[in-house]
Amino acid sequence: MLSLENLQVYYGAIHAIKGISITIPKGKVVTLIGANGAGKSTVLRAISGLAKPRSGRIVYNQAEITGWPPENVVRQGIALAPEGRRILPHLTVFENLQLGAYSRSDKAGIAEDIDKVNGLFPRLQERAQQKGGTLSGGEQQMLAVARALMSRPQVLMLDEPSLGLAPKLVAEVFEIIRAINAQGCTVLLVEQNAFTALRIADYAYVLEVGTIVLEGEGEALLHDERVRAAYLGG
Ligand SMILES: Nc1ncnc2c1ncn2[C@@H]1O[C@H](COP(=O)(O)OP(=O)(O)O)[C@@H](O)[C@H]1O
Ligand SMILES: [Mg+2]
Repeated sequence: MLSLENLQVYYGAIHAIKGISITIPKGKVVTLIGANGAGKSTVLRAISGLAKPRSGRIVYNQAEITGWPPENVVRQGIALAPEGRRILPHLTVFENLQLGAYSRSDKAGIAEDIDKVNGLFPRLQERAQQKGGTLSGGEQQMLAVARALMSRPQVLMLDEPSLGLAPKLVAEVFEIIRAINAQGCTVLLVEQNAFTALRIADYAYVLEVGTIVLEGEGEALLHDERVRAAYLGG
């Protein structure tokens, strides 16, 4: 459904992504794990159109979308829940969700999706009129995911959704990711938290300084000695 072919991304002289190839089949959860600075966010930014690849191709549903502007990528059905808490702190939860639907004009569908997102995130529904900036870290993370869902994506890309969350909330966020996937949304999950990511992933890639060093089924990598040594604390 979505694939990267020999993708290279530079920031000025910094060679951040050194020719990687990744396949994300429809309906699956694919994870990209790796240490801080490995290039995980850059991969998602390149797919989103926020970073321009130097070479290589991004192909989505048989069409090449390399270098497309971000709004066109969203309109094609690929949404990004960015790293950290990139919600709008001065807008309410409800307004943040509406912004997630900026690429759409189907009012009835948007209202339907607000209901759907409220079902997935009851905490957000309770806080609909609260300013985003007053939410807890975990709630802001959930809002970032919920906002991405408001574009009604076919592919949801998540950048470290577990970052900074207490273990109980990590479990909750991952349950929600599972539920979103079960409803038919393809997921590309970027994580430093390899253990949790590998457990929900159908397929995984390990990124080290801009290069894929290992790939395989999530369950298999969970038991791989190299992965255990480097990412799962032996
Ligand atoms: N805007 C930028 N300008 C220059 N270098 C950047 C920029 N963003 C990221 N980098 C560099 O690219 C590399 C990969 O970064 P990133 O994709 O954020 O890694 P990760 O998400 O895996 O932590 C790092 O060396 C980082 O310093
Ligand atoms: Mg990152």
